[in-house]
Amino acid sequence: MNDTNGQSGISRRSFLKGGGAAAAATALGQAPPAALGEQDPGAPRSAAAVGIGPGPVKIELNVNGAKMSTVVEPRVTLLDALRNYLDVTGCKRVCDRGSCGACTVMLDGKTVYSCTMLALEARGKEIKTAEALAPEGKLDAVPAAFVKFDAQQCGFCTPGFVVSMRAALNANPNATPAQVEEALAGNICRCGTYEQMRHAIAALCEQKKGG
Ligand code: FES
Ligand code: FES
Repeated sequence: MNDTNGQSGISRRSFLKGGGAAAAATALGQAPPAALGEQDPGAPRSAAAVGIGPGPVKIELNVNGAKMSTVVEPRVTLLDALRNYLDVTGCKRVCDRGSCGACTVMLDGKTVYSCTMLALEARGKEIKTAEALAPEGKLDAVPAAFVKFDAQQCGFCTPGFVVSMRAALNANPNATPAQVEEALAGNICRCGTYEQMRHAIAALCEQKKGG
């Protein structure tokens, strides 16, 4: 069977092969082959076209202002790298699938679920976990408000909530309680401490400085 398109001269097989490679590269956050230029199969591969892994690779991460290095397989998530390889345990693993927010960290000031991104993707970014909100044992205003208003029970969700809340107040120190609550839409508290959190948020917004 001839699978060549008579008009374009492009075979269905070569089109599918090219599209598959581009889709795979996009999924890995890499530029598709076409963007890297056509590769001569016999030519040495450029650094940009060389994949990482599948074996362990050394990575360096900027965590709470400190440079930390470890060796991980490329499949390891940022959450697992922080908790299991770097002993930064503020971020919690609860659902491990991007639905609860317990693993929330700041990446260059923006909140991300660390269970849904690879550690490799966090290289070169500034990572902040809940530990950053208690430098040298001095509590930031957000966790201090949680303590004051008793806004936690089991505490598993709390690190994610305080990181999200701090990010929201950093982005807008004059945020209203409604705006802060909206920024917490990706966090769930199974113990149901929302009412106490509302008191903490109201007090933080009243301060009009976010800490
Ligand atoms: S552990 Fe990451 S969102 Fe639940
Ligand atoms: S305090 Fe237990 S899940 Fe929020």
